[in-house]
Amino acid sequence: MYKAARFFLFLFNPEHAHFIVFRFLKWLQLSPYLLKTISKQHCKYNTPISVFGINFPNKIGIAAGLDKNAEVFDALGAFGFGHIEIGTVTPKAQEGNPKPRLFRLIADKALINRMGFNNDGMDAVFQRLKRKKTNVIICGNIGKNKVTSNDNAINDYKKVFLKLFPVVDYFTVNVSSPNTPGLRELQEKEPLERILHGLMQLNKQQNKPKPLLLKISPDLTFNQIDDILEIINKTGINGIVATNTTIQRQSLITDAKVIKNIGNGGLSGKPLTQHATEIIRYIAKQTKGKLPIIGVGGIMTPQDAIEKLEAGASLIQIYTGFIYKGPGLVKQINKAIKQYQYK
Ligand code: FNR
Repeated sequence: MYKAARFFLFLFNPEHAHFIVFRFLKWLQLSPYLLKTISKQHCKYNTPISVFGINFPNKIGIAAGLDKNAEVFDALGAFGFGHIEIGTVTPKAQEGNPKPRLFRLIADKALINRMGFNNDGMDAVFQRLKRKKTNVIICGNIGKNKVTSNDNAINDYKKVFLKLFPVVDYFTVNVSSPNTPGLRELQEKEPLERILHGLMQLNKQQNKPKPLLLKISPDLTFNQIDDILEIINKTGINGIVATNTTIQRQSLITDAKVIKNIGNGGLSGKPLTQHATEIIRYIAKQTKGKLPIIGVGGIMTPQDAIEKLEAGASLIQIYTGFIYKGPGLVKQINKAIKQYQYK
């Protein structure tokens, strides 16, 4: 069934297709009855799991960037996602980069995007999350506005953290998007420690602190990952999301000229599968399996999902796989995980 829907959606440019799907999901959300009916079908293979103190209905979530503005999380939950990472949310609304900024590489089962944190800003996102109707787990992925310098980035992260604190279950700090100039420099030792330490201080001042995770780039070296793990250990944050999109363009089937014409952006989907899994395996080894990892990057099949879990991920997320395979993939992954657990 999704094959037919995909054929139709792929007739449009990717952002327009996204808009059509969101119209449909918003319409579904008007009917609690429809959501319940869909959920009965799509959530039947759920296997609950507790990670960093949160009870997840299953191990699969939607990665950041799809429901940036927290508009369709209830519908996504009905389609089998146990958690939704909304955002990246910045303090002020911003338009992002000029269009076109999202491209399909169909032969590679991949996407390239340079959206640039287009989002409605923290106040609008807060209002929507306040109206959550289901018990799907929400992660707030937080970032800084483009106009905020790296020196002042910490203030943006703190603002969004405090605003969203009452309406999310946990947080991911995003310093790894390739589409905000200079953002990935915040992964370096000194600025990273300042941001994570600052947020943890703020977290500890709250009545009941919430788990805080860091999302990293797949373009880091293993040495850089070691430095990051040291900071994670020092600041006591609760986990890592590995990985964001890559700026690499190796081993693509799509014609090199087409790739060149697309230009800058983060690559996601199948070309990222292997490398993201390697990074997860490395982190699990270095932390002796003690640091919770959310594995994301190129999960296109149930087998890819199992490999991420075997490499050491506690939870997994998808984005590009959902665009290419639809909600059926979520159900298949949940089914495969259930079967795998009882093997
Ligand atoms: C993303 N991703 C992303 N990540 C993030 O932390 N904040 C964001 O705002 C976005 N935005 C975004 C937009 C688009 C169009 C895509 C395709 C991706 C990255 C995403 O969450 C994920 O880490 C990567 O896409 C890798 O996973 P997949 O797509 O290979 O399953």
